[in-house]
Amino acid sequence: MSILQLQGLCKAYGGIQALNGAEFTIEQPGIYGLIGPNGAGKTTLFDAIAGTVIPDSGRVVLGGRDVTGWASHRIAAAGISRTFQECRVLLEETCLDNILFAAQPKGLGASIAQVFTRSAGHRHLLRDEAMRLLSLVRLQDYAGALAAELSFGQRRLLETVSTFITAPEIFLLDEPASGVNPSLLEVLADFIRTMYAERPRVFLLVEHNMEFVMSLAQDIIVMHQGRVLERGSPAQVQASARVVEAYLG
Ligand SMILES: Nc1ncnc2c1ncn2[C@@H]1O[C@H](COP(=O)(O)OP(=O)(O)O)[C@@H](O)[C@H]1O
Ligand SMILES: [Mg+2]
Repeated sequence: MSILQLQGLCKAYGGIQALNGAEFTIEQPGIYGLIGPNGAGKTTLFDAIAGTVIPDSGRVVLGGRDVTGWASHRIAAAGISRTFQECRVLLEETCLDNILFAAQPKGLGASIAQVFTRSAGHRHLLRDEAMRLLSLVRLQDYAGALAAELSFGQRRLLETVSTFITAPEIFLLDEPASGVNPSLLEVLADFIRTMYAERPRVFLLVEHNMEFVMSLAQDIIVMHQGRVLERGSPAQVQASARVVEAYLG
């Protein structure tokens, strides 16, 4: 059974066909790259997987279960965690609390009681893990600072590490390297490698920084005009004439 299967996804915004038959299957854990020109539909694809957008047609199948049209909190509970291209952090909360918030169950099914009945020991463990994640991207000194005090790139790192406080099966990272200071790109790449080594699941990375994504991912999916144009190893997609024409050229 596949981990994630996308079948013929379509989504139009007015006259714009953001997704136009996008489909692929992920059979095994791994770090996957999702690339393509601006407007290719990458973020909309993430939205359709994560349940923030309901596709006009097509299916999202998660571990054999059709989850198309499920509310985003149900999809999150089923094992998908994501970041947002525009970077969503809670600016008026501390960096530590941002991560702890990401650890809480979401949606109607998650009662307040569920959050508060967690034992002190459990809260302690979560806090330690949040501190470890912050240290891995050199944000430990900002644990008690408001996220508003961070640079855009640091907020991006904060959002990325927050997705790793829970234990989903699929991570959708939308341009994790964009805005990140070049001196921290290797720190971010190492962070992703470390997370994968600790818990090998499906990591799907939308990225425009080719060096970054090609060094991390073994399998690259190229999107163009709402569908998949090519898929293969970094060397294969870089050598593909249609990828060069549509995107890399
Ligand atoms: N909420 C929206 N309303 C209108 N058009 C949208 C919306 N989201 C995306 N689009 C359009 O759909 C197309 C695909 O966008 P997107 O999925 O963001 O592409 P990518 O992430 O690959 O750059 C673009 O033309 C974009 O302008
Ligand atoms: Mg996008």
